Amino acid sequence: MLSVKELQVSVGEIEILKGISLELPAGETHVIMGPNGSGKSTLAHALVGTPGFSVTAGETWLGKTELLALEPEERANHGLALAYQNPPAIPGVAVHQLLRLARQNRDSLLGLPQLPLGLFLKELRAALSLVGLPPETIERAVHDGMSGGERKRLELAQLMVLKPECIILDEIDSGLDVDGLRLVGEAVGEMRRSNPSLCVLVITHYDRLLEVLPPDRVHVLQAGHIVRSGDASLAREIQKHGYR
Ligand SMILES: Nc1ncnc2c1ncn2[C@@H]1O[C@H](COP(=O)(O)OP(=O)(O)O)[C@@H](O)[C@H]1O
Ligand SMILES: [Mg+2]
Repeated sequence: MLSVKELQVSVGEIEILKGISLELPAGETHVIMGPNGSGKSTLAHALVGTPGFSVTAGETWLGKTELLALEPEERANHGLALAYQNPPAIPGVAVHQLLRLARQNRDSLLGLPQLPLGLFLKELRAALSLVGLPPETIERAVHDGMSGGERKRLELAQLMVLKPECIILDEIDSGLDVDGLRLVGEAVGEMRRSNPSLCVLVITHYDRLLEVLPPDRVHVLQAGHIVRSGDASLAREIQKHGYR
């Protein structure tokens, strides 16, 4: 499970998160909603260890591992994966190169045998197909020249081949059409089938995403604090009445 305790995060001199606590048990889906600028992406970045987001207090645990002491790639190897709100392009690095390396690192940390290249490519193509991307995508540079929707689909396919324990989806629905949205539900469902203890943290503004990813809990983040938590009905209430 993912456990966040009294987390405080600053960007530069400004404190953005002012003491966030969150318990996301294995196998559950939790949602973070909140107005623009409330700190949702900051929380995602602090968890995965993006440089520039300094944690000034608190703890974050993934199972028995305290994440804050670890480098971003070590956190990924321990099974934490983020689908970025604005995935950066990596010109010159092909999708299959990046993911093969990431998967090899993760498998060796877990003491698993290295997946032969042929089997890895088969998994990658299956993941791409599930998110509606053509097989040629494996040769393309990561996110380079891709539309917003294609980037979101590729983010999702990347998560699938990394076999994570915990995924954070930061506004995965932005830029996706209705078919894309449905595929998010199917891809996460597929990840859950292969790993029933997967925890899923969904950041979104819209309850239409929650129709394909039914949440166990919904948390509302406002000005760096979690101000309300509830079940799925809280998301519907916010959709109807706004955050105030
Ligand atoms: N790299 C950054 N440099 C300066 N300010 C930032 C940076 N990242 C986020 N912020 C500020 O932190 C606050 C929270 O941003 P963010 O976490 O992106 O909000 P959300 O994802 O909820 O819309 C905003 O006021 C934003 O301007
Ligand atoms: Mg954001």
